[in-house]
Parts: sequence; C-alpha cells; structure tokens
Amino acid sequence: MIKTQDLTKAYGNLHAINNLNLELAEGDLFGYIGPNGSGKTTTMRILATLLQPTWGEASVCGYSIYTRPKDIRRVIGYMPDFFGVYDDMKVIEYLEFFAAAYRIKGPARRKICDEVLELVDLGYKRDAFVTSLSRGMTQRLGLARVLLHDPKVLLLDEPASGLDPRARIEIRGLLKELRKMGKTIMVSSHILPELADICNKVGIIERGELLVCANVSDVMKQVRQRTLLNVAVVGEQEPAARLLEQSTLVEKVELIDGHIAVTLAEGVIDYSDLPTVLIESGHKLRLFKEDELNLETAFMALTKGITA
Ligand SMILES: Nc1ncnc2c1ncn2[C@@H]1O[C@H](COP(=O)(O)OP(=O)(O)OP(=O)(O)O)[C@@H](O)[C@H]1O
Ligand SMILES: [Mg+2]
Repeated sequence: MIKTQDLTKAYGNLHAINNLNLELAEGDLFGYIGPNGSGKTTTMRILATLLQPTWGEASVCGYSIYTRPKDIRRVIGYMPDFFGVYDDMKVIEYLEFFAAAYRIKGPARRKICDEVLELVDLGYKRDAFVTSLSRGMTQRLGLARVLLHDPKVLLLDEPASGLDPRARIEIRGLLKELRKMGKTIMVSSHILPELADICNKVGIIERGELLVCANVSDVMKQVRQRTLLNVAVVGEQEPAARLLEQSTLVEKVELIDGHIAVTLAEGVIDYSDLPTVLIESGHKLRLFKEDELNLETAFMALTKGITA
C-alpha cells in the first residue's frame, strides 16, 4: 500500500531522510517512531504529495508520487502534526466545509459528517464552536476530518501529542477501530511503548536513517537474542547468585537492586530446572520471572546502535 525506494530529501548538506526503504501492506498499522527532527514529518509530507523528494521513489496504493499525485490525494487521509481550525465555526460546519471540499454533496454530506463525528466520539460536541474544544477533542476532530472521504490509507502525524493519558488511550482505541475497518495506517510518535501494543509493524528512524522496519516481534528478536530472568530469594542474594552462575544454562548473573538478574546462555529457552536448583539447596524463592523486554528498552538499544 505504501512503498518507498531510496527516498531522500536533502536540505543543503542535511539529509532529512536518507535512502529510506519502507514497505507497508494492506491493513498494516505501522508505528513510525523517532526522536525530534528524525524525518517523520518529512516522510509523511512526501507521501501526502505535499513535498517533493530530492531523489528516490515513493508510491501509495500503487500510484507514484511523481505521476499520480491526484490519485494519491483521493485515497489518503493526512493529518498533519499541527493544523488550524477556524474561528466562529461549529464542529458540524467545520466538517461540512471539508466534506464540500471533497465534493461530497447533498444529504449524503450531513450523514457522513454525523457518522464520522460518532466514530470519534464527538457527537455530543456537534454544535459547539471548534475554538471551544480541548486539545484532545481538536485532535479527534482532525481525525474525523481526514475520514470524511473514506480514505484507504491514513497518514497520522503524532495524533496523540500533547494529550493526557486518557485521551492518548482513546486515540489508540480509535486507531485499532480504524484498522478493523480495513484501513492501512501510518502513525508517528516519539514514544515507542505508546504504539507497541497496537501496531503490527514498527519502523525506527534516527537522523533520517531507518534503523529497523519490521514486525514488532522481529524487532524484539533483533534487540535481544538471550533471555533474561529476574530472580530473588529470601535473605542474602549472593549465595543464590553463585549457585545459578554454575548452571550450564546460565551465562552470567548480576546483583541489581536486591535481586539477581540472570542472563541465560544463547539459545536457552527452557529454564524450568533453575528454580529446582535453588530450592533443593534450601533457598526460598521470592521472585522468578522472565524479564519482559519492552519496546522502550528496544528503542534505546537500537538508537544507540547496540544489541543486548
Ligand atoms: N524546510 C526545511 N528546511 C530545512 N530543514 C528542514 C526543513 N524541514 C525540515 N527540515 C529538517 O529536516 C529534519 C527532519 O525534520 P522532520 O520535521 O521530518 O522531523 P520529525 O521527525 O517530524 O521531528 P519532530 O518529532 O520534531 O516532529 C530536521 O533536521 C529538520 O530541521
Ligand atoms: Mg514531525
């Protein structure tokens, strides 16, 4: 649905994006993660046909940005990171204005506007002035606006930025719902964990370079090949740590914050003998848990160019 080949945008010596190769399949919910200035907005603006790349190819739904920009605009909904709303306009008028711009006419127009308002849970603000909406509501209105023409592909530039935790969760719920409706979605964020559990694919970009672009589970694998366990016993940890260290399953142990961090040897998946080793030597287990590698850790590891 979205494909880029060596896509590059240079501003003088600065490469905002550098030889970017992205591929999104139909129905993907793709989390585009990167720190400030890494090239997320640049990528989205190029895909939305609002910005010309310096070189490289990009296509959306099979349409090239060079030859078929009009077709692309019909099939995408692009929500920029900052968008203005107009004073003295009610929510429903705002949507109808954009629906008219999409040439949605007659009775269908009001019906579609009401439908998208319901979808983003703003039905109750239908007759409120847009300037009276909170930031979270404005973001949802922005989302409603890009849904009017029922686009196949959504490009959402940091839809959750500046929102409180509850509003962030609502946006995530909305993204999941849109995915169920069959849309292909590219959504950017600085914050990896925010998107981790809803996306099936993530790309991590830093200084214009795509560090990884893969299924969430593959990204995890790339970051860590070895399993980590957190173990604690009642009383002194040191003797238990020494005991674990002797096991062939274990590569190394470390004492951290009153517990033992156990790194298993490469390829070891079954560690069910380890608790027995401890218990048979008289230790009482207080904690025995596989460390869940979260995407935050993955992100930090990857952007430093290291793999644990
Ligand atoms: N018009 C421009 N002229 C010069 N440099 C630009 C221009 N637009 C963007 N850049 C540079 O390109 C780089 C990428 O910017 P971009 O806006 O794509 O980053 P981003 O990942 O969206 O960042 P943020 O998280 O802050 O939104 C930055 O270094 C930025 O300064
Ligand atoms: Mg940006």
